[in-house]
Amino acid sequence: MKDIRRKTVKDLLSSPEKYAGQEVDVKGWVRTRRGNKNVQFIALNDGSTINNLQIVLDLEKFSEESLKPVTTGSSIHVQGLLVESQGKGQSVEVQANELEIYGTADPAEYPLQKKGHSLEFLREIAHLRPRTNTFGAVLRIRHALAYAVHKFFNDKGFYYFHTPLITESDCEGAGAMFQVTTLPLNNIPLTETGEVDYSQDFFGGQAALTVSGQLEGELGATALGCIYTFGPTFRAENSNTPRHLSEFWMIEPEMAFYEIQDNMDLAEEFIKYCIAYALDNCKDDIQFLNDHFDKGLIERLNFVLSNDFVRLSYTDGVKILEESGQKFEFPVYWGVDLASEHERYLVEKHFKRPVILTDYPKEIKAFYMKMNDDGKTVRAMDVLFPQIGEIIGGSQREESYEKLRARMEELNMQDMPWYMDTRKFGSVPHSGFGLGFERLVLFVTGMQNIRDVIPFPRYPKNCTF
Ligand code: 4AD
Ligand code: MG
Repeated sequence: MKDIRRKTVKDLLSSPEKYAGQEVDVKGWVRTRRGNKNVQFIALNDGSTINNLQIVLDLEKFSEESLKPVTTGSSIHVQGLLVESQGKGQSVEVQANELEIYGTADPAEYPLQKKGHSLEFLREIAHLRPRTNTFGAVLRIRHALAYAVHKFFNDKGFYYFHTPLITESDCEGAGAMFQVTTLPLNNIPLTETGEVDYSQDFFGGQAALTVSGQLEGELGATALGCIYTFGPTFRAENSNTPRHLSEFWMIEPEMAFYEIQDNMDLAEEFIKYCIAYALDNCKDDIQFLNDHFDKGLIERLNFVLSNDFVRLSYTDGVKILEESGQKFEFPVYWGVDLASEHERYLVEKHFKRPVILTDYPKEIKAFYMKMNDDGKTVRAMDVLFPQIGEIIGGSQREESYEKLRARMEELNMQDMPWYMDTRKFGSVPHSGFGLGFERLVLFVTGMQNIRDVIPFPRYPKNCTF
């Protein structure tokens, strides 16, 4: 092989005029090989784009025998001339001069032979599914969205704040945490009263994987002003829905001096920014998903961009649901924690656009939310999306030391002196929210199951790969 700098398939296809007539060097995986006795065509993909590069092999130059190992899934290195394509379906192709085979993929064993495997089947081979068009598209969009998150906050002057994954605090109070311990499970040390003796555990206390970085995020915001976190969070609920993962990524901005209105404005601007970024930067991938899975995808994304989110109190939302005449699986009344069917009715049937629901009953929300003057509701905000339901949960935080302390006592919570210090020293009004990253990826890709928008999903009874 000659010493030519390698180009990606994306490089070559996105600026053919720059490279046409030149000798190029490409490497990738064979999607298909077909042809006749005179000429063979390889569709080459290297992951840089959903599009394949056509490689043309003249059988006067390459023996049929030497091409035998070049089957679907094998990996190759090609040098040749980039020319305008005579065939339909591509603008340029490579007329191969040299071919090197890196690795074969025995057709009798390689599972990704034919197109159109079901998403369920692909979930069973999650270690290989990134090689399909669908998962390539989803994973490139996921990357673009992650970049957009950082860009959005960085451009606004927010600081990326790293919160711990192992923690002794249960932020949301839901209690479904994965415990982290090095105690011997077959011989657990007990105290005199028969309880587990965590003083002998690795951290000297009962530790778990975090469900949210918010509490530490508040410490960051009350020092740096505006921060955001973006990291994995863990929930041990036995939820087997297409919207829940046991390990998911969450983005949690936290802002000093923001009240609930500012919080809502930021949430709406943030989601729209991410969607617009994906539309601008992932055109081919979104178009592919639109064409193959969800013909309404692009229209839905543009619709969200061009409409204001509805802002509505929980109380008014429940009233609409009660008066809807709709038969719901779960009953709806003031005080109930809304189910996904209720949220989606408001968004998809009633308002037909995203809704920010505010001022929920305190009983169904976390301890840290700011109490309203009515003493019954808290300054919460959930952003509800078509197809998804809740995509963001957030609130203004209770900044009064006394009120927060009283609420924690009411809920029989353990004291967290380090957290209470934010209210003790220079307390300020502040707000924040959490966006479930996979739910955003779900919305932008139009996929139906959250297990298909993260490379290696974790859910009950599944921790393979
Ligand atoms: O509503 P949640 O539980 O809120 C919090 O954790 C707050 N501490 C956030 C904050 O105010 N800083 O979770 C926030 C979002 C949800 O709206 C949802 O999008 C996502 O996280 N989420 C999940 N995503 C996937 N799988 C799960 N099991 C999820 N649970 C929550
Ligand atoms: Mg929530």
